[in-house]
Amino acid sequence: MIDKFSTQDTNAIALGLTWAAELGTGVVSLEADHLEMVASYQRLVTSLDRDHASDFRQAYEELMDLTRRHFVHEEQVMRNIGFDGYAEHKAEHQKALRDAEDFVWSIGTHFRMKERQALTKYLKYWLLNHMEEHDRKIGEFIDRDTDADTSGGAD
Ligand SMILES: [Fe+2]
Ligand SMILES: [Fe+2]
Repeated sequence: MIDKFSTQDTNAIALGLTWAAELGTGVVSLEADHLEMVASYQRLVTSLDRDHASDFRQAYEELMDLTRRHFVHEEQVMRNIGFDGYAEHKAEHQKALRDAEDFVWSIGTHFRMKERQALTKYLKYWLLNHMEEHDRKIGEFIDRDTDADTSGGAD
């Protein structure tokens, strides 16, 4: 599935994430959000190099805020275009937020390095998997719609 990115290692370099064009949805405003999320995720990875759990916690909260706002935006886009996978996709977003909250709840207040790395690894997997498996379908839906509109038209 996602073989071009390693999710095996737990050091900061292996956890690094760079934007790959093939992850894009083709929807400009969504890609701007995704780029911002990847940059925010990178700040989370950078915070692993510092020894303070509070730096990590702050970076994590920033990423989650961006993610929540992005989900609202993306769901609005899906409704606007009449996307046929809307309900399933929205459920994925809700599940992601719940899972992240559960994960943090299970860690408690300590946020030891091992736990910070585990949470980062999980978020990397989730971001890549979600963009590749779900967000990509939004762009494909728009392309299908555009093809249907233009094929067999006048002129
Ligand atoms: Fe999404
Ligand atoms: Fe997205």
